[in-house]
Amino acid sequence: MCAVDKTKSIIEEGGHVIIPTVGPLDIGSLLGPGADVVERVFPHRSSRNDPIDDIRDEAELPEPLKLLLPVKWEQFGEVLVLRLPHELDEHEDEVAAAYASVLRVKSVLRDEGGVTGDLRTPVVRLLFGTDTVAVHRENEVLYKFDVSKLMFSSGNNDERARVASIGCDDEIVVDMFAGIGYFSIPLAVHQRPRKIIACELNPVSHSYLVENIRLNRVEGIVEPVLGDNRSLEGESVADRVLMGYVKTTHEYLSTAFRLVKSGGIIHYHETCPCELLPARPVERLQAANPRGRVDVIGFREVKSYSPGVSHVVVDARVVKRA
Ligand SMILES: C[S@@+](CC[C@H](N)C(=O)[O-])C[C@H]1O[C@@H](n2cnc3c(N)ncnc32)[C@H](O)[C@@H]1O
Repeated sequence: MCAVDKTKSIIEEGGHVIIPTVGPLDIGSLLGPGADVVERVFPHRSSRNDPIDDIRDEAELPEPLKLLLPVKWEQFGEVLVLRLPHELDEHEDEVAAAYASVLRVKSVLRDEGGVTGDLRTPVVRLLFGTDTVAVHRENEVLYKFDVSKLMFSSGNNDERARVASIGCDDEIVVDMFAGIGYFSIPLAVHQRPRKIIACELNPVSHSYLVENIRLNRVEGIVEPVLGDNRSLEGESVADRVLMGYVKTTHEYLSTAFRLVKSGGIIHYHETCPCELLPARPVERLQAANPRGRVDVIGFREVKSYSPGVSHVVVDARVVKRA
């Protein structure tokens, strides 16, 4: 019999996994045929403050598969989302239980393919637990949502923080794609707008938006609207329009230009092939305001969206002409 030496680190070498052991070696009992005995000096595990070490210990898996356990995950409150390689398919329940136990979460979802459809629904499957509603804290804002039904893009965290820092004293803001309040709530918490009209099409997102407004005590500022933003009434009513949406955002530019006041600002998001940057989003903005002017006052990459495609945001001051 032999056992894995947990005081030393597993090493990889030339496509092989080399596992430190203690005691007399009996390869058959360890790995079955195909394993060899080699001598190596193994590095000591410096400390046990990386939870992946405990997760590897906890997971009831053949040792080589432990190396495939993800070292990164997404955690929203007490709900975890894991992306697992297919080699772990047969063991997904044990794997989820190990993460849940070490990270002390109430449920674990498997990410099976990002988000889908106009409502940006996540493609996830529940592996552990029953309750998938999380209260996630970011930048002093609480976001309550059902992680199995609604997305929360970790890649947009810098943009949420940037929006929260935009001075907008006494402004009327329209958030055309409000979701659970990704931008509206931090803006209301950290700045002093007069009103934010937060429009959301998905009733599930809208119900959490309503809850999050209460949870963050911004009832007097954020006004939730359930419906398609193209049905929002009014002309030249907003000092600022947020368009936090990707893929087809340009199809909503006519609504944004109708709503914004002359001199107001549109924060326009677009997913764009890198070779078309920065021209395409700026041209689309200009094309939506043919008689007026669009001055670009900010331009930044929010995140890399997919290979060769960037998610960008253009801040544009709009001059409208009758
Ligand atoms: C998920 S958010 C985008 C992510 C967000 N900006 C972040 O920081 O993570 C986009 C939202 O727009 C909503 N939506 C899509 N089309 C809409 C429309 N025509 N009117 C209002 N809301 C819409 C979707 O339901 C979704 O909740």
